[in-house]
Amino acid sequence: MPQLNFPLPQRVTPLNQRDREDLPTGGWIEFEDFPVTIDITAPLLHSLFVDHWQQVGVGHMVDGSVLELELNQPPKICRLYDGYLTVVTEGWHLHLCLEPHRGGPDQRTPSELSQRRLVSRGALYRRFNAKGQPRSWGIQFWNGAGVKMMNLFLPNPFVGENEDLLPENRPNLDRLKLYEQLRCIYVLGEADLPYRENPLKRPFISVCRSSRCNGQRDWQPVHQAVTEAVEAAGLDIDVISSGCLEVCKMGPIVFYSGDGRSEEMAQSTWYSRVTPEVAQQIVTEHLGEGCKVRSHLYPPIRPSGKAPV
Ligand code: FES
Repeated sequence: MPQLNFPLPQRVTPLNQRDREDLPTGGWIEFEDFPVTIDITAPLLHSLFVDHWQQVGVGHMVDGSVLELELNQPPKICRLYDGYLTVVTEGWHLHLCLEPHRGGPDQRTPSELSQRRLVSRGALYRRFNAKGQPRSWGIQFWNGAGVKMMNLFLPNPFVGENEDLLPENRPNLDRLKLYEQLRCIYVLGEADLPYRENPLKRPFISVCRSSRCNGQRDWQPVHQAVTEAVEAAGLDIDVISSGCLEVCKMGPIVFYSGDGRSEEMAQSTWYSRVTPEVAQQIVTEHLGEGCKVRSHLYPPIRPSGKAPV
């Protein structure tokens, strides 16, 4: 059996934490918490955005403001970079901080700010009316300051196609299946997680497309060289191009997310002034053999210093 880079636990260890928030209208929200370590939030959010995108809405709900966005097709990007999950759709994108945001190699994020940005609590919720009847279902996240942040809206049995409100006595209870399935996996720990390996930790190598770090914008030959070298080496690593990779000078910039082969290889690495030849060397030596290409590391190694591995 092949070794998994970032294996996941088979099941969630339940928190057994339930909470109620009373509403001024007489109703209340019932919260059932789940752990918010990356081992749990990654499979939850990846499966919702990639496998169940037709069924989830994204937004927020606070006094005086509700935002609800839907996906009309699978997201173009669902990836973790520097602690943030990024989901990109045709018309909008979101970022949600699932691991400490460290900042780029030159601008480390202060640890207090990093902790405040981080998801610190997550819960499945049911919102009840004053008669004690559940009327909406979803997922709530809080940041490190205890402030409610993003909501995910789950299918509602009282709402049909095209926002059609169904008669009160004829809800479509099939629409509760996703909520029940999520509750079983993430709150109660009674069913297996949907993946064996962390889907948001899948290794990737990226070339920055922006002109701020690379006025000549000659990133494509580098991207092509990386693509060809990864293919030739038979490596199971995604090759992408992206916006800013937090270096912003000395481009073309190449970023490798790291993999789980060793503690060193789990670390993110930036390379600067990458040519197609250097790109090939990075793939062969770093991705293939686990030895970083010291001459192009960013930040550069001082003559007396050691490689920042
Ligand atoms: S613009 Fe390329 S790294 Fe920031």
